Amino acid sequence: MDLTGRAAIVTGGGHGIGRAMAEALAGRGANVVVADVHVPRAEKVAERVGGRAVECDVGDPDAIAHVVRVAEDAFGPVDVFVSNAGFSDDPAAGVALSPDAVRRIVDVNLLAHVWAARAVLPGMIDRGEGWLVQTISSAALITGPSGMGYTLSKHGALGFAEWVALNHRHQGIHVTCLCPNAVNTGMLGRNEDDEASDAADSGLLEMLGDVVEPELCAEMTLDAMETGRFLVLPHPRVGESFLRKATDYDAWLERTNARLRRMRGEVPVSHTS
Ligand SMILES: NC(=O)c1ccc[n+]([C@@H]2O[C@H](COP(=O)([O-])OP(=O)(O)OC[C@H]3O[C@@H](n4cnc5c(N)ncnc54)[C@H](O)[C@@H]3O)[C@@H](O)[C@H]2O)c1
Repeated sequence: MDLTGRAAIVTGGGHGIGRAMAEALAGRGANVVVADVHVPRAEKVAERVGGRAVECDVGDPDAIAHVVRVAEDAFGPVDVFVSNAGFSDDPAAGVALSPDAVRRIVDVNLLAHVWAARAVLPGMIDRGEGWLVQTISSAALITGPSGMGYTLSKHGALGFAEWVALNHRHQGIHVTCLCPNAVNTGMLGRNEDDEASDAADSGLLEMLGDVVEPELCAEMTLDAMETGRFLVLPHPRVGESFLRKATDYDAWLERTNARLRRMRGEVPVSHTS
């Protein structure tokens, strides 16, 4: 995969994993369009990578189609679409999350991948190649402490990615899914404009375990794109948990229910399980 001169779009490219992806793609010679709802951040990253910034709310299919048109006008056919923007909901809300909030997280975390594919897949198929990258989450493989809306939208995103890969693999379409656990980004309270903010300072660390850097996620994703791999797991234990879950679903549910209740302080912490 030679990215030199190819057009790439990264949504949520103004911060965190998206920013690292934009930098990694540009580092390999791609022309990058940084699409983000937060314009100043997108502009800052676009300037750094010599690309283009576009305002975009990925929950809106027309906004995604607009980004694709801007990218095509500036750099030619889009060969790489990194559908990365996303956010999390409040785990405490449970199924009481409002209907509007459920629809919003599904729009941004799940349907945005569909709108991206809808906009670029036909052209990629005509040209006989293209790379669709989705930033999903370990929450798509092993449900954990995340919110209800986050969990359902990320599971749906993985299902959609599998569907695209299965139906378009023979047409030169490469699908890669990044499924990390905790990453040191805005989602964990980090603000890249403020050196003092860091996941290490947020109380989440203890609950989440290893926190990796967004640059590692980006490098592993580019490596997977180059070698044609579907799944990127920056935290190897996610793959191990996924396997244990698949091997005995009921035991996994029992164990994870107990763990979540301990986290919420509902049962005493046991050091034997
Ligand atoms: N940080 C983690 O621990 C973690 C773990 C697993 C998966 N992820 C996933 O990584 C992706 C990127 O998040 P991050 O961790 O880099 O967080 P981040 O908050 O650092 O960056 C997210 C970026 O997306 C932008 N964005 C948010 N909503 C948008 C929208 N509707 N349209 C366009 N842009 C939007 C934000 O402005 C921001 O620039 C998300 O899909 C998230 O679910 C993150």
